[in-house]
Amino acid sequence: MTAPEPGVQCRNVRRTFGKFTALESIDLTAFPGQVTALVGPNGAGKTTLLLILATLLKADSGDVRVGGFDPAKDPRKVREQLGWMPDSFGTYETLTAREILEFVAAVYRVPKDQGRERAEELLTLLFLSDLADRPVHVLSRGQKQRLGLARALVHDPSVVLLDEPAAGLDPRSRIELRTLLRDLAALGKTIIVSSHVLAELEEMADRAVFVDRGRTIGEETIAHLGREQNKQWRLRALDPTELLNALLRLGRDPKPIGDSAEIMLDSDAEAAELIANLVSHGVQLTTCAPVAGALETAYLSFYGNDPAVS
Ligand SMILES: Nc1ncnc2c1ncn2[C@@H]1O[C@H](COP(=O)(O)OP(=O)(O)OP(=O)(O)O)[C@@H](O)[C@H]1O
Ligand SMILES: [Mg+2]
Repeated sequence: MTAPEPGVQCRNVRRTFGKFTALESIDLTAFPGQVTALVGPNGAGKTTLLLILATLLKADSGDVRVGGFDPAKDPRKVREQLGWMPDSFGTYETLTAREILEFVAAVYRVPKDQGRERAEELLTLLFLSDLADRPVHVLSRGQKQRLGLARALVHDPSVVLLDEPAAGLDPRSRIELRTLLRDLAALGKTIIVSSHVLAELEEMADRAVFVDRGRTIGEETIAHLGREQNKQWRLRALDPTELLNALLRLGRDPKPIGDSAEIMLDSDAEAAELIANLVSHGVQLTTCAPVAGALETAYLSFYGNDPAVS
C-alpha cells in the first residue's frame, strides 16, 4: 500500500523577522485522516509556522505545500481548502455569530442558501444556537473560541489548522473539541493542532511534531510514544514493604514514594512482564501505571527542565 499524499508538507522552512530567526529549519508532514500535534515551548515558532501555512506570512525559503499548493504562490487555492483557527479571535464584534458565519461562507463563495444551512449546522454542532443572534462582543472567551472554530469550518475545508484551540474552553467544551477533531479526521481531513495541554493532545492526536527554537527536533506517532518510550512507572500493592522487597529480588531499583514505588521501564512489554513476575511472587499488586502521559514524557525528554518550557 502506498502512503497517502500528505495534506501539509514543509521542508526546510525558514523565516526571519529582521535579524531574528524565528524559523531556522522546519520539517513537518501531516496526513489526511490524522490529527498532527505541533508541540513546543513558548517562542518555538509554532504560530509563525501556522501563519505561513495559512498564507498569512511568507517563508524566506524552504518548500511548503498545503493541499498540494504553495501558499506563497497559490494563496487562493490554499485558502479554498483551508480552515484556520488563530490563537486569538479578532472579528467584527458588532455582527452576530450567525452573521459572521454567513459572511465568511459568502467570502468563500458558498451559495447563499447553503451558507445559511452550514452556519445553522455549525451553530448547533458547537453549542452556539442560543447565542446565534447576539452580537459577538457579548460572548465569553470560550464561546468566542467555539465561534472561531465554527468560522474555520464553514466552507468544509480539507485541511484544518488550529492554534491553541483549547485555550479558554471549559472541561466539557474541551472534550467536545477533542471529539470534533477526531470526527473531522475520520472524514479524511488533515488536522494540525498546536497546544500546550499535552494530556489533551495525546488523546486527540495521531502524531506529534516537536519544534524548538525554530527547528523540528523530532516526530513520532503517539502510539509509538505510548508503547516504546522509557518512562517512570508507579506501582502500588496492598503491602508496600512486600512490593519493595519483591522488586529488589527481581533486580530492580525501586524508588519508594509514600506507599508506592517508582521505577524506570523501557516499554509497555517490560511493564507487562514485571506485573506477571510480581504477581507470581505473591505480591498483591493494586496499581501499575506510567507516572506521566506519553506525550508529556516525550516533551520532558526533548526539552528537559528548560525554564522556557511552559
Ligand atoms: N512579527 C514578529 N516580529 C518579530 N518577532 C516575531 C514576530 N512573530 C514572532 N516573532 C518571534 O518568533 C519566535 C516564535 O514565535 P511564535 O509566536 O511562532 O512562537 P510559538 O511557538 O507560537 O509560541 P507560544 O507557545 O508562546 O504561542 C518568538 O521568539 C517571537 O518573539
Ligand atoms: Mg503561538
